[in-house]
Amino acid sequence: MEKFLDKLGKEVSLAFKEAGYDENLGKVGISNRPDLCEYQCNGAMAGAKIYKKAPLAIANEVAEFLKKSNAFSSIEVCPPGFINLNVSDSFLTDYVIEMGNSDKFGLNTPDKKQKYVIDYGGPNVAKPLHVGHLRSAVIGESIKRIIRYMGHEAIGDIHMGDWGLQMGLVIAAIKEEKPDMVYFDDAFTGEYPKEAPFTVGDLEEIYPKASAKSKVDPEFKDEAMLCTKKLQDGVRGYRALWKHIMDVSVEDLKKNYDNLNVEFELWRGESDVYEDIPGMVKYLKDGGYAYLSDGALVVDVKEDTDTKEIPPCMILKSDGASLYNTTDLATILKREEEFHPDSIVYITDKRQELYFEQVFRCAKKTGLCKSDTKLVHIGFGTVNGKDGKPFKTRDGGVMRLEYLIKDINDKMYEKISTGREMSEEEAKKVSSTVALSAIKYGDLSNQALKDYIFDTERFMSFEGDTGPYLLYTVVRIKSILKKFVENGGKIEDCKVMSTVSNESHKNLLMKITGFNEMMEGAFNELAPHRICAYLYDLANVFNSFYHETKIISEENEDIKKSYIALLKLTLGISEDCMQCLGFEAPDRM
Ligand code: ARG
Repeated sequence: MEKFLDKLGKEVSLAFKEAGYDENLGKVGISNRPDLCEYQCNGAMAGAKIYKKAPLAIANEVAEFLKKSNAFSSIEVCPPGFINLNVSDSFLTDYVIEMGNSDKFGLNTPDKKQKYVIDYGGPNVAKPLHVGHLRSAVIGESIKRIIRYMGHEAIGDIHMGDWGLQMGLVIAAIKEEKPDMVYFDDAFTGEYPKEAPFTVGDLEEIYPKASAKSKVDPEFKDEAMLCTKKLQDGVRGYRALWKHIMDVSVEDLKKNYDNLNVEFELWRGESDVYEDIPGMVKYLKDGGYAYLSDGALVVDVKEDTDTKEIPPCMILKSDGASLYNTTDLATILKREEEFHPDSIVYITDKRQELYFEQVFRCAKKTGLCKSDTKLVHIGFGTVNGKDGKPFKTRDGGVMRLEYLIKDINDKMYEKISTGREMSEEEAKKVSSTVALSAIKYGDLSNQALKDYIFDTERFMSFEGDTGPYLLYTVVRIKSILKKFVENGGKIEDCKVMSTVSNESHKNLLMKITGFNEMMEGAFNELAPHRICAYLYDLANVFNSFYHETKIISEENEDIKKSYIALLKLTLGISEDCMQCLGFEAPDRM
């Protein structure tokens, strides 16, 4: 469907043309003076420069021709040459009716599907998830859903950190504790036990200890590096132990991401490309791209137009070990070969921006990646506590995601179960649904790049710009619709009529018309916060309408049905927006 503003713009363009001016001057936007008008066109000001004529005169001529259009209920010219417009009820309601009859409310989906690989989540195996991982998971999941909603294909890949020193540290710590384990016996040729010799709880203790130890104990660090090398070289026992670490961790990760309603199509990691590295390194050397610099193998990626220093991309360290870069480059190659994506999108902390710039340039320059494959990095800011410093536990430790989520779930349960008649089971279910919206909306409503303050109380509030407020609004709509049905009404029979009852009614209709424009913008910018802002506005205009209008008790049946149809549309749009953000509303709360 043509976007509403474009449709209004067409009318104004025609008037510009008829008045003898360039039709491109007829662009219409939402008014920035809602006290004066609903929409406005500023084309006469631009026209004044081209035609060397007073803008007011141009605007007046155009306004004369505009009178013929049925799109506007009022057309006013304001100095120095604004054309202030109010849309006519019929033009507005016709559009909303067509939206209701269209797939995805008239969203323009592409003729040609594009394929995206979304690289998000990025947990490091054996290290517990912390609040920073929340952002990658929540933003990435939403971006994936937005892309799919637009009609494209998206494959989510978790890209675990499962191969580096962190694995060697865990293995070294286990070895130090129990050196007699069969995994460390080089002479052993039998089958290794099926059961892991540790639980996820053990692992969570092992890693931080080992990591701390390696910082003060050089011998232990050397041992960890040796273990890493043995693992990477394929020593049987080390691989078997690694497999245990992976199985135990992945099971736990799945549980955590499940709780967040985040789902990955691919559970791959750095280890999955390890075998492709020698071939890739040879290709980079043979192609003359990579050269030795201080013993390390690097590829130059600086460009003449750079305004800041872009260091070379390192492929191998001087000891021949591969790095984060190496696995990322090999992963690009593998994704190209396997999926032929049009775009690969990475969602990480913004501090990795320079890193991705280097990797992307290297991949393009060396042809590891096709020249027309888009490589996109979406960097996000830090999650801070109320003190403005990175979010920590009360005793200053790293806040584990699991505890954070549990804390909010518990508080929400408390809130929901008091003063409401609900079974414990329902209260549990409802509170976790609402808690998820609090967490996700709290994050997504900020522009990704910005830092934000994780304010549990505010996020959980049922009022204001919060997830629970949006859910509450949707629940309100659901309950009105339910009542309508209980009173014998049939929602399918309800149609939006061309009568507009009051200002809040009109505001709601106008907000609805902005859906496809907003969704297209959110997709073009891969920006979930645009959906959040729209959803919040929609909830606000709906609630004003609700407070000012009798709906169920409306005596005129046709008007009542028209309201019900509008509610159904508001609900559908809200639910689709929430679906794109990765949360949903319960039936009651
Ligand atoms: N594991 C990394 C980290 O914790 C994030 C991985 C992001 N994805 C990638 N392809 N590099 O920082």
